[in-house]
Amino acid sequence: ADTLDRDKLLFSYKGILYPVSFCSPEVFRSMESLEARSDDIILAGYPKSGTNWVGQILSDLVAIFEKKTQNKESSENDENLEEFPYLEMGDTEKYERMNKLPSRRVIFTHLLPENLPRSIFKNKAKILLLLRNPKDVATSFYHFSNGISTLPSYETWDDFFVAFMTKKMAWGCYFEYLSKWNKHAADENIMTITYEELKENPVLGVKNIAAFFGIPLTEKELQSVVERCSFQSMKKNSQKTHGAFGNILFRKGGVSDWKNLFSEDQNEKMDKAFEEHMRGTKLGAKLKY
Ligand code: A3P
Repeated sequence: ADTLDRDKLLFSYKGILYPVSFCSPEVFRSMESLEARSDDIILAGYPKSGTNWVGQILSDLVAIFEKKTQNKESSENDENLEEFPYLEMGDTEKYERMNKLPSRRVIFTHLLPENLPRSIFKNKAKILLLLRNPKDVATSFYHFSNGISTLPSYETWDDFFVAFMTKKMAWGCYFEYLSKWNKHAADENIMTITYEELKENPVLGVKNIAAFFGIPLTEKELQSVVERCSFQSMKKNSQKTHGAFGNILFRKGGVSDWKNLFSEDQNEKMDKAFEEHMRGTKLGAKLKY
């Protein structure tokens, strides 16, 4: 797309770009009316960090939790009680409806901490912060942007790389995202997990996530969540869960695909930017860059 198209696809709000097809200033303004709860399950992550994957894990965990605590089958009544899980996507009445939903609510967001409704921090909602190696985030974002019509597309990877490094992305610059969230990295209501560690040891990852949100799991339940949320199984179900969009979303689902795109120079540039933003930080160490 040319510059003009790009300008039409994204808008700026408080200095950050967002896609017009998913977000609006009116919705952002009404978001402050969300009343967060201490038992909310919030998943925060920059786009392409594995939101859909970890989101599925969380939904499965909540279904298990509800079945045990409310004697409720997970399919019962659910159609009327759901909202699109992304906090910042929807209509201006979304937050009023969300305030009426029963616990426990699962909420995803790509927003910076300073742009979240204040009640999330005030009411001590628990946040799972999902991180992914910036090079794989950029790689995934590039393919995704070119795969869907609601985001700017790029003729070449080099064009995308420049945009990624110069803060022209929807939901802002990933390095800024990391440094802003780093200020909360030691908060007791926040747990961080990386895409890479979850990929390497999903059993341990899911176990830790469940423990953080106070959801007891049997060994069998743990195994079933891990299995149902594997890349293969989510990709297989994607037609049902995400329609045609699933083909674009469930792309490779691995680590280090960036090696197929980055030049040596781009690799050095990104290492340098990471160093500058993340040196000596808790999240920087967690990403084991
Ligand atoms: P790739 O493009 O590298 O394949 P998000 O959900 O935040 O948009 O992130 C999408 C990325 O997560 C994609 O990365 C996608 O393949 C990957 N992904 C989705 N489901 C996954 C799963 N079950 N296991 C591992 N990766 C998954």
